[in-house]
Amino acid sequence: MIKLTVGEVFSGLVKGCFNVKEALKFDNVSYRYPDSKEMALKNFNLTVAEGEFVGIIGPNAAGKSTLCRAANGLIPHSFTGDFKGDIFIKGINTRDKKPAQLAEYVGLVFADPEAQLSQMTVWEEVAFGPANLGIPKEEIFKRVETVLDLLKIGRMRYRSPFSLSGGEQQKVAIASVLAMEPDILVLDEPTSNLDPRGTADVFAAVKELNKKQNITVLMVEHEIELLAEYADRIVFMDHGEIVLEGPPGEVFRQVELIQKIGMNVPQVTEMAYILDRDYGVWGSKRYPVTIDELYSWLNSKFKENRI
Ligand SMILES: Nc1ncnc2c1ncn2[C@@H]1O[C@H](COP(=O)(O)OP(=O)(O)OP(=O)(O)O)[C@@H](O)[C@H]1O
Ligand SMILES: [Mg+2]
Repeated sequence: MIKLTVGEVFSGLVKGCFNVKEALKFDNVSYRYPDSKEMALKNFNLTVAEGEFVGIIGPNAAGKSTLCRAANGLIPHSFTGDFKGDIFIKGINTRDKKPAQLAEYVGLVFADPEAQLSQMTVWEEVAFGPANLGIPKEEIFKRVETVLDLLKIGRMRYRSPFSLSGGEQQKVAIASVLAMEPDILVLDEPTSNLDPRGTADVFAAVKELNKKQNITVLMVEHEIELLAEYADRIVFMDHGEIVLEGPPGEVFRQVELIQKIGMNVPQVTEMAYILDRDYGVWGSKRYPVTIDELYSWLNSKFKENRI
């Protein structure tokens, strides 16, 4: 595994406080599904700080969904198989609490929204989670309005979740998890059914929660461009292990390695890589991951008359 600038990994997260606390910790976790020969997670170690936004990427079968299931206790409580090591959610060992109890701390959003919906109306769907946690009525009303607003789905409040499009359903599923105000939000490809605007809404909503409410985010995504822009840290997985981790600009700088595994880097990053390869002009250990970053770099080179 290549670990990039360890000191910096946490630097974006300190957010003004010197005491960075652990929200989620995978301590040497290995897991094999029943009847499976391959380990889905292999001696997996990852510590996520409170308030950190971690983006998980990797090819199919890398173990990303398994990681999400383990993060909220579904593994080992609802999945048998071989589970080794420990996972701590805010210091609580997931072996000691059932997923229903862990739901107060960690919310999981899957790629398949329909499987997460059960209520008659969107409003009830969103209120369901907090009601189960025993939250007082007025507080539930407030929370439902806040998340409906955040995901721009207020106009659907009286509709049946089952009458909605896949993308609309996904927003409702996300809203119902957000309404529980978990400390940690785990999202497994939450935008796979959404169009570009829906995808942007989801990223914006998750980032707002992350920034304003200091919610810790673990997000599996194929939208690497957006993930690179929003995440503090990228974890690149393959075959149940971490291959690369670090700030987006450093992880995506490993263009050749990432492409060898069959994945892409953001186009802007690839452009910087090609310029660097052909002209050797980069000179920084981070590559840009957004258009703004590439523009400001090009701008400085133009001013130096180097391009
Ligand atoms: N319910 C299951 N039973 C048995 N094996 C499983 C199960 N779910 C996943 N696996 C296996 O575990 C490994 C990791 O799968 P996982 O679903 O975590 O990958 P992933 O990175 O989420 O892939 P994708 O990008 O396709 O969603 C794969 O080899 C997969 O076949
Ligand atoms: Mg998956």
